Amino acid sequence: MPINREEALKEAASRILNTQSFVRAVLSGRRRNMTVEFERVDIRLVEIRGALHLQLMQNDGRATTTKNLQPLALEVDQLLNSGYANILVESTDEAYSLRITKSGDAQVHTEERRLEQKLAHDKKKERLLDSNDPFLREVGIADAKGLIKPSRQDKYKQVEEFLRILSPALNAAIDAGHIHKPTVQNPLRITDLGCGHAYLTFAAHQFLIKSGIPVIVTGIDIRPDSRDRNNTIAEKLGITKTITFKAEEISKTTSDSADIAIALHACDTATDDAIAWAVNSQAKLLLIAPCCHHDIQKQIELAPEPWGAITKFGLMKERLGDLLTDSLRAQLLRLVGYRVEVIEFVGGEHTPRNLMIRAVKTDAKPDQLDIDRYLEITAQWGITPVLEKKLSTLNIR
Ligand SMILES: C[S@@+](CC[C@H](N)C(=O)[O-])C[C@H]1O[C@@H](n2cnc3c(N)ncnc32)[C@H](O)[C@@H]1O
Repeated sequence: MPINREEALKEAASRILNTQSFVRAVLSGRRRNMTVEFERVDIRLVEIRGALHLQLMQNDGRATTTKNLQPLALEVDQLLNSGYANILVESTDEAYSLRITKSGDAQVHTEERRLEQKLAHDKKKERLLDSNDPFLREVGIADAKGLIKPSRQDKYKQVEEFLRILSPALNAAIDAGHIHKPTVQNPLRITDLGCGHAYLTFAAHQFLIKSGIPVIVTGIDIRPDSRDRNNTIAEKLGITKTITFKAEEISKTTSDSADIAIALHACDTATDDAIAWAVNSQAKLLLIAPCCHHDIQKQIELAPEPWGAITKFGLMKERLGDLLTDSLRAQLLRLVGYRVEVIEFVGGEHTPRNLMIRAVKTDAKPDQLDIDRYLEITAQWGITPVLEKKLSTLNIR
């Protein structure tokens, strides 16, 4: 629901300052024409030597630094007004999510939550996935006692953090009318492209069903053994009516459309296939965490000067190729009517592939500047991203 921005920020601040009920907050994204010092700030309430503090975990894309603040209005107001576009505040009974749009308006969504305040200094984050959920045992993330296996901690964390983004993004898309309100008759449809062992696919299904959201989930992977294994697990869990797996190449999938397309580390251009399928089938929300990148790397023969100073170092050339690939994917999504953000979805210690492209279909007409920038970058570097050729509605050349 759109409301006055100052009021919305004040409400977020008052929820953070309410030490009786505040649990955690996350600030991410950047408001138009503003710069922020960190890509993401996680805030929680901790008790240090008998006094309550707000603990800020500030991630700049490479490292996380921790800072403790007194819970004072001035400090919190300054932080909330420093340029972040997405603010999620979770209290013991409610989650308050605020998004500041390009035009500076505020969109707010509140949702019931049941969270506990845990003020221990080394408190772990509130889990979204119950480690005792049988699906975690079946997919091999938890052991028979329901404990997360040490070797699967990183995957568990990736999936949890992915869901932490899925939930508010879905609610915001429903509130803004981009996605219909899911009902039993008309459930939400989610497709996971390149689902592999389906950790995320099952997690999204279980999390949404437990949150009371009727959903139909499809997992697609080229490997028949993945399909068979995943369908067997779905049978064991008794959830085959709402989750199905197919062994198909993403670019040739028989699935016709979904409201939400997700992809976690679909290899190389399988990520482009996933984005292209989602766009061509008019998916409303895309959450895509890319994997390795080779398409643009292979095309960069001679870097336009003065970039040769960077590409002469193999490692730098590779990283620049990664940046170009994901930046151009984001730009292409803008050109076909999506609002796009590029965010870090999990700390770099859990996977170096921790970038996520989050895109919501708004059907906004692209600015000429965006078209020109895309054409100029690709011309300068002499590259044509594979995604460009796969988007049926793109019309820029
Ligand atoms: C790195 S794994 C990630 C699996 C899973 N999403 C996860 O995060 O655990 C990539 C998966 O993409 C699948 N894949 C690669 N290219 C594909 C394609 N063109 N079509 C369908 N699946 C593909 C692979 O078989 C593999 O299971």
